[in-house]
Amino acid sequence: MTRPFPKTPEFSGSLYRPARFEGSVFDLEVEGRVPEDIHGTFFQVAPDPQFPPMRGNDIFFNGDGAVHAFRFANGAVDFQRRYVMTDRLKAQRAERESLFGLYRNGYTNDPRADGVHMGTANTNVVQHNGRLLALKEDSPPYALDPVTLETHGLFDFDGQLTSPTFTAHPKFDPETGAMLCFGYEAKGEATPDIVYYEIDSQGRKQREIWLRGPYAAMIHDFAVTRNYIIFPLMPLTPDLDRIRKGGNHFEWQPGLEQVFGVLPRDGDGTDVRWFTAPNGFQGHTLNAFDDGRGRIFVDMPVTDGNIFYFFPQSDGHVPPPETLSSRMMRWTFDMNNPGNALSMAPITDFACEFPKCDPRYSGHEYRHGFVIGMDMTRPFDAERLGAPPFQFFNLLSHVDVATRRVKSWFADAQTCFQEPVFVPRSANAPEGEGWVIALANRLVDQTTDLVILDAQHMDEGPVAVVHLPVRLRMSLHGSWVPAAA
Ligand SMILES: [Fe+2]
Repeated sequence: MTRPFPKTPEFSGSLYRPARFEGSVFDLEVEGRVPEDIHGTFFQVAPDPQFPPMRGNDIFFNGDGAVHAFRFANGAVDFQRRYVMTDRLKAQRAERESLFGLYRNGYTNDPRADGVHMGTANTNVVQHNGRLLALKEDSPPYALDPVTLETHGLFDFDGQLTSPTFTAHPKFDPETGAMLCFGYEAKGEATPDIVYYEIDSQGRKQREIWLRGPYAAMIHDFAVTRNYIIFPLMPLTPDLDRIRKGGNHFEWQPGLEQVFGVLPRDGDGTDVRWFTAPNGFQGHTLNAFDDGRGRIFVDMPVTDGNIFYFFPQSDGHVPPPETLSSRMMRWTFDMNNPGNALSMAPITDFACEFPKCDPRYSGHEYRHGFVIGMDMTRPFDAERLGAPPFQFFNLLSHVDVATRRVKSWFADAQTCFQEPVFVPRSANAPEGEGWVIALANRLVDQTTDLVILDAQHMDEGPVAVVHLPVRLRMSLHGSWVPAAA
């Protein structure tokens, strides 16, 4: 019998109380009209702990991965949700309790978890070569059946994966369908080794490049352009001694700069160049491209301090969230200049995250980005909701990175959004013409809706609101898979 979950912010409220269920709903209730040209599946994964944490509390990123599939056809939407049957979840279900301690720290596990793979498969879900891959950056992917969501198990690309880790943020070459991906801590826990892979659309590894960072650090997302690979090393570092003593895997380092490793895609890793910028927190990549003449542009949200309050610095300090400033930034690297030729300029003047571009333009010059944003000058129902929860985003926005023009939809004082996906109106539609789909959490009603907006007219609000009869917990990332795939 499962004990109650803790009453901490990590496990309570409409956004973070575990949802825990598996199931399906045929033909969801639609207000408005779902465009009939939306034909395919919106996959998404949420960390959703099956059992209360063994240590009394836990961080959001440590929950068991639960995959959502919203299947669109002919104006209708069907919904399905299943847990990824990880080795870890199976072991815990057998004991009907949590056996795993601190995030990415096997030294804090229950002895009954000895030898059980720790991957949670809770961060992103993508389809490649007919497999649905549930990803977590400290683990190989878990392979799932894209139709049934049945888990096949840990997947090492038929023996081609040479690292124990694999990013949750692979990129896809829109011309070839190749998956461009990497692992960090790639020769074991707290190692500074990084590996880059290119795996073609048929699942064959075409390139593998190894390099060593200046030190071990979290590399959560990265960027690939036509000619370059860019690794952002965040000032969050692992330490094997600390981990062995039962401490956090990551610690924020206020004295470290932001570091970027840039290497040519046709190089061998010895040709990596390291660039630095003042201490800050690199977020997710919106998109990146190079001009073919040695200038590289990487667009990502950047915050001037540690957002991850659960990975404090060594003295325990974490900055109060309201003291942090965050904007979408464009980093420009000049590979023709032998110095630290890195500059940064803001694209937005508001905090935003979970960015998505039109996937047909990934790695190429582009204009259109889609984000969830935070604007606390808008009304907020503090009377009924108290303080805004972690990852509270009350805007769904279109950012034109060429003109810096932003069009946002603010729903109301009780609603926040999860990561959007962009769906082109057709395979040949101009960039950014299509639909933005995202989950909206109605925090007072404790319900969740799927909203669909015209990507070029986001300020006009949704063309359809699809009601779920259940509440979904906050998720992390997902992707759109066209029916043709
Ligand atoms: Fe992420």
